[in-house]
Amino acid sequence: MTGPAGRAARTATGRRRGSRADRPVEPVPAPDPAPGPVDAVDTEITAVAPVAPVDPVDPAPHGIDRDALARTIAMVNDKGGVGKTSLVANLAGQFAAAGYRCLLVDLNRQANLADDLGFRDGPADDRGAGLLVSVVAGTPLRPVEGVRPGLDVVAGGARLVDLVPLMVSRVQEQGRAAFLALAEVLAPVAGDYDLVFVDCPPETTILTDLALAAARWVLMPTKSDGGGLVGMRLVGERFALARELNPDLGLLGAVLFATGSRSRVVHAEVREAVERAFGGHSPLFTTSIRHAERTAQDARRLGRLAHELEQEVAAQPAWWAALREGGTSATARRLSPTAASVAGDYRDLGVELLNLLRTAEESPTADARPEQEATS
Ligand SMILES: Nc1ncnc2c1ncn2[C@@H]1O[C@H](COP(=O)(O)OP(=O)(O)O)[C@@H](O)[C@H]1O
Ligand SMILES: [Mg+2]
Repeated sequence: MTGPAGRAARTATGRRRGSRADRPVEPVPAPDPAPGPVDAVDTEITAVAPVAPVDPVDPAPHGIDRDALARTIAMVNDKGGVGKTSLVANLAGQFAAAGYRCLLVDLNRQANLADDLGFRDGPADDRGAGLLVSVVAGTPLRPVEGVRPGLDVVAGGARLVDLVPLMVSRVQEQGRAAFLALAEVLAPVAGDYDLVFVDCPPETTILTDLALAAARWVLMPTKSDGGGLVGMRLVGERFALARELNPDLGLLGAVLFATGSRSRVVHAEVREAVERAFGGHSPLFTTSIRHAERTAQDARRLGRLAHELEQEVAAQPAWWAALREGGTSATARRLSPTAASVAGDYRDLGVELLNLLRTAEESPTADARPEQEATS
């Protein structure tokens, strides 16, 4: 993977186009030194060895620079509430804190990403207008910079409602090639970033098709219940179709989200469901994200990511100290200490993801999981 070291390697080779290769990235300021576990997050992620540069890929049909999109990951499941938004926000947030340049593209009308990152109704929140205009006009996306240091966003929101009829009429005119519209406007800016995540909506297949035609990788969260698994099967079908337009598309893996269980039986069931949906072997991430309702509520209420809450938890006075001192802090809602464990889950998942990307990029002809090839 890149990170500062990887970027240097790429710069030296001059392989990548655009500023990802040519422009040195300012180092992200180190987080406050106080709580140990957060430092550990950054260190572990940064410590993943740099990836060897990818061999240049022939430009895909329609003139899309697929090399620039080689680190674009679509977070997909046709079911809502399975963790897509939480995962993109926390993964990108931790990677950015570790010094990677990250872009989040939100294809959701509800725009929960704006809540998770705390920019709802602020200057970064154009409710999807910029994304819509780019796709309509075919002009490069213009991300809002610095939602966090190193983390830029193309916001979603209510304006995306107009994207669906636009795409319907384009598909009627151009056929399925119309789904390359997002790839066309994302590719010119994707090269500026180490990692790009696209947060997909539930049950709006046409927008998911846009993401699948743009991305190099699919990451698929699921809960262990039936709903998430059905959503997975539908993604399997879209995935197969998308590969006709975007043959590079690969399945990075499925992630078990908000699970209370580390049981092997549950993991085996989910693994089987991925297998049924995608054929071949089942790529299920070893790391799962634990169920932590109070931390999830704190996160969305305050617009803070799990690792940010972890720092705030460490800084809040002990409950007995707050009680003794009286005043508002004694009655204020306390942050759940589980944030540290949840942040740790996202960190482990991030490290696993970087290792998979590294494997794939070291041998570009192989899948990220050679023994677990995703077939359509
Ligand atoms: N670790 C967790 N445990 C339990 N619930 C969570 C956790 N993280 C997030 N949530 C909650 O789960 C719900 C669905 O998550 P979200 O990421 O919005 O899913 P999706 O984007 O797939 O609809 C949200 O209400 C969110 O606050
Ligand atoms: Mg969502």
